[in-house]
Amino acid sequence: MTGAVIVTGKSAGVADDSSFDFTTNVGSLELNTPILTASGCAAAGRELDNYFDITAIGGIVTKSIMLAPRSGRATPRMAETPSGMLNSIGLQGPGVESFIENDLAWLQQRGARTIVSIAGGSADEFGKVAAKLRVAGGFDAIEVNISCPNVEDRGQVFACNAEAAAQVIQTVRRNSDNRIPIFAKLSPDVTDIVEIAASVAQAGANGVSVINTLLGMVIDTNSMRPALAGVTGGLSGPAIRPVAVRCIWQIRSALPDLPIIGMGGVRSGHDALEMVLAGANAVSVGTSIFNDPSAPMRIQNELEQELRSRGFSKFSQAVSYAHRDVDHTFQIAASTDVANHADEDWDFISE
Ligand SMILES: Cc1cc2nc3c(=O)[nH]c(=O)nc-3n(C[C@H](O)[C@H](O)[C@H](O)COP(=O)(O)O)c2cc1C
Repeated sequence: MTGAVIVTGKSAGVADDSSFDFTTNVGSLELNTPILTASGCAAAGRELDNYFDITAIGGIVTKSIMLAPRSGRATPRMAETPSGMLNSIGLQGPGVESFIENDLAWLQQRGARTIVSIAGGSADEFGKVAAKLRVAGGFDAIEVNISCPNVEDRGQVFACNAEAAAQVIQTVRRNSDNRIPIFAKLSPDVTDIVEIAASVAQAGANGVSVINTLLGMVIDTNSMRPALAGVTGGLSGPAIRPVAVRCIWQIRSALPDLPIIGMGGVRSGHDALEMVLAGANAVSVGTSIFNDPSAPMRIQNELEQELRSRGFSKFSQAVSYAHRDVDHTFQIAASTDVANHADEDWDFISE
């Protein structure tokens, strides 16, 4: 675990302007800065480039691409929620061939670090998408969106089952260039996210991206029907940030060396710092982009200031810093203890 700097308070000294090292290694993926866009919130970065130079952030994570073009779910597919939003876009996209020809070619020509997000309804489809990307080349990593339903298995979400998640990752690994790092995008809608993270790492993922949206639902009280045509949708935005921080923390505690890309409700450099201290090696910005398209650049600048003001001279020093002096053995023992007493009366713990 990283975190060698000695910081003795909130402002232990401000690092010299010229000396800040913002680079990060997310496993073998080297980034100039730790801020990325989150998949599905900035397409392939073309529109964002009108607001800031997209090559100045760590990289672009593209919208999840599938084998064939898809029109997505019926509308309405967005609903506002307190401190967040619900979406049921349904992986709308042009299909991998068009993506390679248009979006990937543009990103390559633009010189942006590119993490291609892929999705599929079966392990086989994920493999086919990965194989087409291997032939095309011209990107830096793959994020495997296993948080979508497995059409061959009663619609169960891959990321909610350790075996199904591992099977997808193995298939993508087999069909990808060995030099290309693979990140498994995990769902927070599971009992034990560490089990899923360990399973995908074992299957060949070089890191994990946490978290995808939480499954939610809104009822329109005027029509007295579900607000989304797809009934349920993915909850994102500031409302989910503490869940994301908890997931990052748990994975970092159990798997100290597993690279983590953190995301979920990051609106400011301060929010990003929280994820970094919990264990994220990079941070993706999603929903914030919808009301502030320059959010990734702004958050990057704010994060640098947050780190400097705490005396860090290197980004890497802050990764997992909140874990120092924490006895993780005790945490694991405590949760085992809860499990061992599951049949007892635990009323006293609810407040
Ligand atoms: C409109 C919308 C579309 C999304 N599409 C994708 C997607 O295609 N693939 C994916 O892995 N995640 C997708 N996500 C999830 C985000 O990448 C991110 O994990 C999640 O929204 C939490 O981060 P945030 O609160 O900063 O948005 C989408 C989120 C939103 C709001």
